[in-house]
Amino acid sequence: MSDQARPDVVHLTAGGVSLVLETSEDRLPSVVYWGAALGDLTASDLGELLRSSHGPFGNTRFDVPERVSVLPTPAEAWIGRPGITGSRAGRDFSPSFTLAGSHPVAGDEVTAVGRRFDAVDEVAALELSIEIALTHSGLVQLRSTLTNRGAQEYQVDGLVMTLPVPTRANELFDLTGRHARERVPQRAPFGVGIHSRESRQGRPGLDSSFLLAAGTQGFGWETGQIWGLHVGWSGNQVAYAERLYNGHRVLGAGELLLPGEIRLATGESYTSPVIHAVAGTGLNEVAQRFHRYLRSRPQHPVAPRPVLANTWEAVYFDHDLDRLIALAERAAEAGVERFVLDDGWFLHRRNDTAGLGDWIVDPAVWPNGLKPLIDKVDELGMQFGLWVEPEMINLDSDLAREHPEWIFRAGGRAGLPSRQQYVLDLGHPEAYATIAGRLHALLDEYDIRYLKWDHNRMVVEAGHGPEGAPGVHEHTRAVYRLMDELRERHAGLEIESCAGGGGRIDLGILDRTDRVWASDCIDALERQQIQRYTQLLLPPELVGTHLGDAEAHTTRRRHHLAFRAATAIWGHMGIEWDLTATSPGKRAEVRRWVDLHKDLRPLLHTGDVVVGDHPDPAFWVNGVVATDRSEAVFGITCVARPDTFPPGRIALPGLDPDTRYTVTPVAPADHLPGGTQLPAWWDTGVTLTGHVLHEVGLQMPAMFPDFTHIVRARAVGDETVDHGGRPASPATKE
Ligand code: DGJ
Repeated sequence: MSDQARPDVVHLTAGGVSLVLETSEDRLPSVVYWGAALGDLTASDLGELLRSSHGPFGNTRFDVPERVSVLPTPAEAWIGRPGITGSRAGRDFSPSFTLAGSHPVAGDEVTAVGRRFDAVDEVAALELSIEIALTHSGLVQLRSTLTNRGAQEYQVDGLVMTLPVPTRANELFDLTGRHARERVPQRAPFGVGIHSRESRQGRPGLDSSFLLAAGTQGFGWETGQIWGLHVGWSGNQVAYAERLYNGHRVLGAGELLLPGEIRLATGESYTSPVIHAVAGTGLNEVAQRFHRYLRSRPQHPVAPRPVLANTWEAVYFDHDLDRLIALAERAAEAGVERFVLDDGWFLHRRNDTAGLGDWIVDPAVWPNGLKPLIDKVDELGMQFGLWVEPEMINLDSDLAREHPEWIFRAGGRAGLPSRQQYVLDLGHPEAYATIAGRLHALLDEYDIRYLKWDHNRMVVEAGHGPEGAPGVHEHTRAVYRLMDELRERHAGLEIESCAGGGGRIDLGILDRTDRVWASDCIDALERQQIQRYTQLLLPPELVGTHLGDAEAHTTRRRHHLAFRAATAIWGHMGIEWDLTATSPGKRAEVRRWVDLHKDLRPLLHTGDVVVGDHPDPAFWVNGVVATDRSEAVFGITCVARPDTFPPGRIALPGLDPDTRYTVTPVAPADHLPGGTQLPAWWDTGVTLTGHVLHEVGLQMPAMFPDFTHIVRARAVGDETVDHGGRPASPATKE
């Protein structure tokens, strides 16, 4: 909504969020307010809001009122990190933009409302256009484009966008991690200075900031006010929180550009990645805004996510047709619907030292090609998927021998190997065409419905040949182009984004992929955390969650099947385990868990993810509640030795307070450890209102570490219950 009577104030509102922008005196838009929806505001309300927002000046650093635009510059009295850095060989380094025009952008199924602002600096000969949209789910999306109108080249060193957060946002939150331990949350006070999270590894990384947020002290999943952002880009990037001594607090983000990476000739433009900004109450609302946005996109997968089997931890590089057929048969018996052949199928790829780049089926291992395996997989009623790593190259490959000049090099050096591999420069048109040609040929020859697209090393010293200019930006765009091209030419093709586990999970790659591999770690205990925080951004149907071996390959920790399976059922489920080495009894158990997942799948893959704040960090409560609040499923997990035994009452969040639900345990009955003491309601179920289930909670069985209880809540009856605190809502009933 924009108010015609006040053309210098724009009130955008959607999904329970308001963003009020000011452009008075033809300056770049600055945020007057961003947060929970303010309701209908008249022109006079907006005028008063503006008046009440401008601080006094006189004793300020500059003799103008301070206003922080979404692309702040020193020319508007901003002394923090500038929105634009760059120069024309040392000149025009401090642009001052004047608004030339602004117009609304029409909404669609994703965007509710948007606005574009065009600005110009005649002296620096630069044009700037800023696009700001609000999705139906309440995400603010920002992007800017800089165009060089001067006669000489303009070098862009950075183009970041910022949003202010209020003073009460005094606690910072973001994520970090490492291989097989992604998405570790960290918190810090929002002190004066810059907390900057930078990725210079050509991908967001296993330690990606993922979501950088500022919130009210001690905010949790259910409580506290939070403002955060995510960079929708799969290359180098920066996300930062900056507090100035005089009280300004902003969150900012953009692409991290290497020196000289973007040099605009006359008339050329650079467009920043989309910054996704989120405001909400508790991390639950933050996550739900991202999930609803992703689910509203036309390309979001809607067909039931097929349970898959992945061969990696089952056979590694030991590709043998008979062994793989036996594995496929066991997988089909277990209810698997997609069989994915991982690393090891292509030329000379007997281990991880050779073959990357040669995307041709190795006749030494597959004398009749992949057809016998694919036919068998098809006969067993499953789809076939294949692992690739198109951006990588081993020196021991035919491609590297033929075209060493396509490998990234800086300063005449090949740089450091990582996992014995180097990075192929897809910004090279011939390299791009060769890799695209080989992938098209595979997809044309075989019925491959799914590519697991891996990316196992960091992209550093990425010099584009022959002169060695920085090439990460172009390479990232080429990867996007290649994925888009493959999906366009091979209808229905799905792609999984993997990068040595969860190293490339961002909303840029998600525009052209259907699943992410959250981590190489399938240890159920580690996975509880990895999945919980990956779901801050992604809904469960996009997150690969696998059932692995009893002894986790990455941690050597052992867990019983019930815990491993009760952890794997929550996302896009898969099995990554040598089922041929298991007993028929064990496989029957696996089948029951897969059946449970399929039974819950429609709810898990459409509902709202909720996490409960439990005072004892040993207890983790995760749930998914149907968007109409008619049903829900909760997992109550004991991740450490608890303070209390049994756990006492556990609150179930996210239900409709005015609806009665019957709660029953749903996990296969034989999974409880011997001697488990059960609460009175366990065998019969219990019926209570959503309000009571949240405010009072339910007694749970005694719980040992590394154990999950799964309970399901279904709405009953047709009357609406008034829980006493507020008017009854028209809840949907079963
Ligand atoms: C790393 C991935 O994360 C694994 O799942 C597996 O695909 C290996 N690469 C294969 O090399």
